[in-house]
Amino acid sequence: MEVVFWGVRGSIASPSPDAAFYGGNTTCIELSTNDGTLLFFDAGTGLREAGETLPDAGECHIFISHGHADHIVGLWFFKPLHSPRWTTHLHLPEWLSHIPDYFYQGGIFPVPFSELQGRVILNTLRDGEDVSVTRGPHRVRVSPFATNHPGGCLGFRVYADGALFVFTGDHEITEDAAAHAEAVEFLRGADIAVVDATYDKSDYRAGWGHSTWEDWVAANAEAGARHLVLSHHKPGRPDEELDTLNKKLEWLEKKGRAELYVAREGMRLTPGLCDATRRGSDWLVVLLEELSSYRDENAILDRILMKAREMTRADAGTIFLVEDEDLVFAYMHNDTLFSVNCAHKYAYATNRLPISTKSIAGYVATTGQYLNIADVDELSPDAPYSFNRDMDNKTGYRTRSLLTLPFFDNAGKVLGILQLINSIDPHTGKPHAFAPGMGLNVRFLTQGVSRVLEHSALERRNIYGILRMAAVHDPSETGPHAERVGSVAAELYQRWAERQGLMPDSIRYVKSHIRLAAMLHDIGKVGVSDLILKKPGKLTGTEFSTMRGHAELGASILSGGDSDIADLAASIALHHHQKWNGTGYTGVSDAGRLSGEEIPLAARVTAVADVFDALVSPRCYKKAWTFEQAMELLDKEAGQHFDPMLVKCMHEIAGLLPMIYKRFPENFEEAPAEVPAEDAAQTGGGTAPA
Ligand code: C2E
Ligand code: SIN
Ligand code: SIN
Ligand code: FE
Ligand code: FE
Repeated sequence: MEVVFWGVRGSIASPSPDAAFYGGNTTCIELSTNDGTLLFFDAGTGLREAGETLPDAGECHIFISHGHADHIVGLWFFKPLHSPRWTTHLHLPEWLSHIPDYFYQGGIFPVPFSELQGRVILNTLRDGEDVSVTRGPHRVRVSPFATNHPGGCLGFRVYADGALFVFTGDHEITEDAAAHAEAVEFLRGADIAVVDATYDKSDYRAGWGHSTWEDWVAANAEAGARHLVLSHHKPGRPDEELDTLNKKLEWLEKKGRAELYVAREGMRLTPGLCDATRRGSDWLVVLLEELSSYRDENAILDRILMKAREMTRADAGTIFLVEDEDLVFAYMHNDTLFSVNCAHKYAYATNRLPISTKSIAGYVATTGQYLNIADVDELSPDAPYSFNRDMDNKTGYRTRSLLTLPFFDNAGKVLGILQLINSIDPHTGKPHAFAPGMGLNVRFLTQGVSRVLEHSALERRNIYGILRMAAVHDPSETGPHAERVGSVAAELYQRWAERQGLMPDSIRYVKSHIRLAAMLHDIGKVGVSDLILKKPGKLTGTEFSTMRGHAELGASILSGGDSDIADLAASIALHHHQKWNGTGYTGVSDAGRLSGEEIPLAARVTAVADVFDALVSPRCYKKAWTFEQAMELLDKEAGQHFDPMLVKCMHEIAGLLPMIYKRFPENFEEAPAEVPAEDAAQTGGGTAPA
């Protein structure tokens, strides 16, 4: 059994930025059984959204507690009622049998109920008369009971999958001893109970037909429902207040045996399992705060993927980024195939998928719509897209369910696609379909994240702008060169930090800063004359001492910026030619020379990455070396030029290097063609004369 909350507001829909977390839709709760029987309790505005996520054909049941507008207005906007391939059983309290027609006759809705395309089977509900619902092999029994609400209302006890779900509808038990005592009986033995907690003690309105949350917590202390969900929130009650309530519940929970929840749109509950995201908006606020401290989109994407998988119990997941006309595989996790620790190499994958409606991810990128596919083997033949099995065939992995969502920039342009693969059923450990509410939660996440990504994209665009200016002057300072040095520095740092046993969150944070800052290490070369920079042979002593100035010049260009990236970049620029043994330079003079661990770590890391890249790239004064030759030089210089621990780390990430170089290839058209024979023959050892 799974319970999904589509609408949790009472009285009137009240969407607003203040209510974005708990939601503004009125009551609608979905219950789906393990064999796929689908029931909805009440048809508030939340029902519309629920309908949008359903497949093209099927059968469902809607139980209406009473006819107050906030419990029925969603009905006319429910997709299955407009589809000839759907059958909807509409269960109405006996006093409401006129309601479907009344809406048309009263001028409230323009189309008579009888003309809706969907097949509707009406059923009448009476207090105490059980309704039996069967679709799969297992029976679902729904027992209506009368609640205390002006004009009458039914609550429901639902027996399915060996569990008991209770929904009170609207129900006033506050200051009514008889109703309170009855409520204890309704709740007794429930695995999940959803109750009308419109008020708290301070704003309770006697006789309006609703209760305070305090009374439900008290009633449940006697009744012992395992999960008590407070719902039907007062319209306009802001997220902040519901967060405070959540905190109180957390505290109360410690004293009782029940788990206490504030209902939230998109929340999903399974008896015996708690929803990891139920604790108020805290999780999202905390996550977005954490993400906005990262400056690098790789770190952000990695973290989003992790969070989205946690929320949907997805075994695997991929992030694609839009690059030109393609989707580029940017990130991949797969618990079955590999551990998260080795997943980072997929950050440099070069697989591309053209953006077209033929692939699932391409379809989502083109239309901006999200797709929830229960089984890729059972796609409708009418679907414009088909599942691409190449990846599964290559890896031996078996994809079944897919939840695919776009994320956007502020202008509404698709930045990328988040694809979650194989939601794991916690009971069987096997993949099953993603629950509709999961999509809702993840959409919430991707919306928040778009802002963070936009911010990091801005930072990246600034850095590219600076690099383009530099490249005009010095053809070796290209975008790909900077990307390679940044990526190698970031991976080196990660390896180093893992060896130190640093916390993953802190590693991710520093890594994301180092990647961007290291890209700017040579920016000071803009101040060095072309005659020196582009000289096709060895530099003279004077020329080289001018060249040394690029370190301090870079630092002075970058320092005084108002960003933490600029500060780190300034420090890297100043120190990246310092050597471990105390030689090297930070400028024209030898002033302020450091050695060993006095040299900032980010600069030591960048030194290794920069020299490695200079060696394996062609320069106007030398030709490209092989990776092996470059590694040999690093080994020889370990403890002299380089931090020996970092040289060790460089060997440990050796498997990543070819991927990084493939991901950011040099456009050699810009590189100088002519290399003088004597310099071309150079294969190692001799550094430039000082
Ligand atoms: P770069 O080309 O980006 O090289 C960065 C660093 O990589 C150099 O720092 C050096 O430590 C290492 N490296 C590059 N090529 C070789 C090589 O063939 N052998 C060895 N052992 N190491 C190499 P360095 O020496 O402080 O130079 C800083 C910058 O000065 C270089 O940046 C380049 O722009 C310029 N430069 C250095 N030597 C020459 C040269 O002989 N001719 C010209 N035209 N420019 C040079
Ligand atoms: C990771 O932890 O692998 C993501 C951080 C990054 O690649 O910058
Ligand atoms: C893939 O995983 O290769 C892409 C699946 C798809 O979106 O079609
Ligand atoms: Fe440099
Ligand atoms: Fe460089």
